[in-house]
Amino acid sequence: MKKIIAIALSVFSLSALAAGGGDYKPNDPANLPYGNKVSLQRGAQLYFNYCLGCHSLGFQRYQRTGEDLGISVDILKENFIFDGSKKGEHIKIAMPESYAANWFGAAPPDLSLIARSRGADWLYNYMRGFYKDETRPYGVNNSVFKDVGMPHVLQPLQGLQVKTEEGDLKIIEEGSMTPQEYDLAVRDLVNFLDYVGEPIKLERQQIGVKVLIFILIFFIFAYFLKKEYWKDIH
Ligand code: HEC
Repeated sequence: MKKIIAIALSVFSLSALAAGGGDYKPNDPANLPYGNKVSLQRGAQLYFNYCLGCHSLGFQRYQRTGEDLGISVDILKENFIFDGSKKGEHIKIAMPESYAANWFGAAPPDLSLIARSRGADWLYNYMRGFYKDETRPYGVNNSVFKDVGMPHVLQPLQGLQVKTEEGDLKIIEEGSMTPQEYDLAVRDLVNFLDYVGEPIKLERQQIGVKVLIFILIFFIFAYFLKKEYWKDIH
């Protein structure tokens, strides 16, 4: 019992520590709005504008994305397909991997499954975790991915942060978004990557709910049937 109280207390004090002061903590939860189409569309828009230059989504097709997110083919063609791909094609990038590896030191990985390997919370904090570091080739480092080879592509939106002595991140140059707006934008972006990691998730959950409702209704019938069968036996 004492042990349990001690553990509970230490967890409590840790979370209290994490909650105190500073703008940004590298372990904030993403709290994704699963299945929210507006959020997914906005996330997709951010992805296609800011990430697709370097990161493909090789397991995902344009058309499927459009259908799942409620984006019409015309809008898809106009706003999302920049390289003349057909709507049934996989979402690829034009840059050959070997060039990319030369330019960035590491090839930008395909992000189809990134939400499953890294998790939504990690991605959320990664995209919010860039801070100024003159020793790095792109002038930024990242608080959850040390010495990352990726530039801070969302800097025009977020602005530039510095790392304080306590390890918090503070904005020193403002971007076009407030910190709250930026957090929401990143949440939508991660929501989109989470969807890409498992496009069937929404459907799977809906089917699960329907199955449970079916079992519930079936139980009522089964119960009365059982009563009927046994009524003469007692
Ligand atoms: C200019 C090219 C470029 C753009 C644009 C870009 N990235 Fe990257 N990204 C990279 C490179 C290069 C790496 C590999 C870094 C390394 O391994 O050090 C990387 C790594 C990553 C990783 C870590 C992958 C891992 O190894 O776990 C994530 C996540 C990521 N990028 C997300 C994004 C998102 C989201 C966007 C759009 C907002 C984006 N990137 C835009 C070049 C880019």
